[in-house]
Amino acid sequence: MIFTVAIDGPAAAGKGTISRAVAARFGFAHLDTGALYRAVGVKGGDPIAVARSLNATDLAHPGLRSLEAGQAASRVAVIPEVRAALLDFQRSFARQPGGAVLDGRDIGTVICPEAEVKLFITARPEIRAHRRWLEVGGDAAQVLTEVKERDARDMSRADAPLKPATDAIRIDTSDLSSEQAIAAAIAEIDRRLNTT
Ligand code: DC
Repeated sequence: MIFTVAIDGPAAAGKGTISRAVAARFGFAHLDTGALYRAVGVKGGDPIAVARSLNATDLAHPGLRSLEAGQAASRVAVIPEVRAALLDFQRSFARQPGGAVLDGRDIGTVICPEAEVKLFITARPEIRAHRRWLEVGGDAAQVLTEVKERDARDMSRADAPLKPATDAIRIDTSDLSSEQAIAAAIAEIDRRLNTT
């Protein structure tokens, strides 16, 4: 079965938690596409060359979840050649037999516009910053500034900006527990699976 779940949205909206749960529930492969950009950002050197030769070791870099790695990722993600270098891998991952869930910023719009289910996960900025702060610690005000800065850059770039696909289903997780957010996503996928 070819079946793609595209999960997009801003930083710390709950995409990772939802994607992992959806993958486990349906037995789909999962790709966190932010990790690709983070790995390019933290490696240093020429980001285009790095993106073209990205390997499994780069993706296992221990500091990929840090705020700095997120900022570095967002900066290299504006470069069209970097995005192009990562395209084929993401597209073939999305259409592999057995089903796949990919989370990122442009999955439903650019990587896999034909995805069977497109979810756009959002939450208020203060809530997202608080969640990220629980993960990384440090100065809470600084985390909020960085989250807002990163969203602004991701939404305003010319190539594949963060925005919901016209046919995406929006889930606002601001006032949901992770269990409720996961249940909402699973309900949408079940609905689509039952009509195919
Ligand atoms: O999802 P994340 O926080 O790990 O993503 C880190 C950055 O990578 C994000 O701020 C923008 C970029 N990114 C992107 O441009 N396109 C994607 N599909 C995923 C991430």
